[in-house]
Amino acid sequence: MRIDILTVMPQYLKSPLENGIVRIAKEKGLIEIEVHNLHDYGLGRYKQVDDAPFGGGSGMIMKPEPIFACVEKLKQEREYDEVIFLTPDGETLTQRLANECSLKKNLILLCGHYKGVDERVREALVTKEISIGDYVLSGGELPALVLIDSLVRLIPNAMNDSESALLDSFQTGLLDCAHYTRPADFRGMKVPEVLLSGHHEKIREWQVQNAVARTKQRRPDLLPDSLKGEDDAKQ
Ligand code: ADE
Repeated sequence: MRIDILTVMPQYLKSPLENGIVRIAKEKGLIEIEVHNLHDYGLGRYKQVDDAPFGGGSGMIMKPEPIFACVEKLKQEREYDEVIFLTPDGETLTQRLANECSLKKNLILLCGHYKGVDERVREALVTKEISIGDYVLSGGELPALVLIDSLVRLIPNAMNDSESALLDSFQTGLLDCAHYTRPADFRGMKVPEVLLSGHHEKIREWQVQNAVARTKQRRPDLLPDSLKGEDDAKQ
């Protein structure tokens, strides 16, 4: 998979893209990520990337020319499955959407800044708009990193224990079960007996029951009908 990120703040992305799972996936040759500084495509002597909005009002708008120039250059080099704009009014990122994106080959991620981006960019270039939640951040860089993290860990072999991504919260439709490590007794707080038993079938049964109970308690909206108790099913 290849991801091209378009941003006015390339430095902001540096550390998260050079560490953790993204670094591992890069080293394994599973992913290639290129960051493009939109100022390199800016206009005039000052490499301008934004301008005041027509119609007045506060804030600056990202100009279309630098974004079109960068996207068009990239499209000459390869085909892209999606040009994704990170924006609070996009489709909310879910595990389903992360799964969908992780299957793509080439993606362009456009990070917004200032007050927004000229609407013609959205009309003519952008093919998908993604929000990471109902709150407004100062730019699309953090959302782009969130999206990248969520999908890189779904690429087969990106994680050392690649199976564990499949058992994540949401991936199974349920929240994850509780986890424990040594010591078995910490200040009188004991690990459930069954987890120490070595009985794999019973342990698995406990994990599923715990995941269902947690989901019921914390996120009942996620529970499939088949797992809703009789009382819940009636509602
Ligand atoms: N840009 C600013 N806020 C955002 C959000 N919540 N999701 C995606 N992009 C954004």
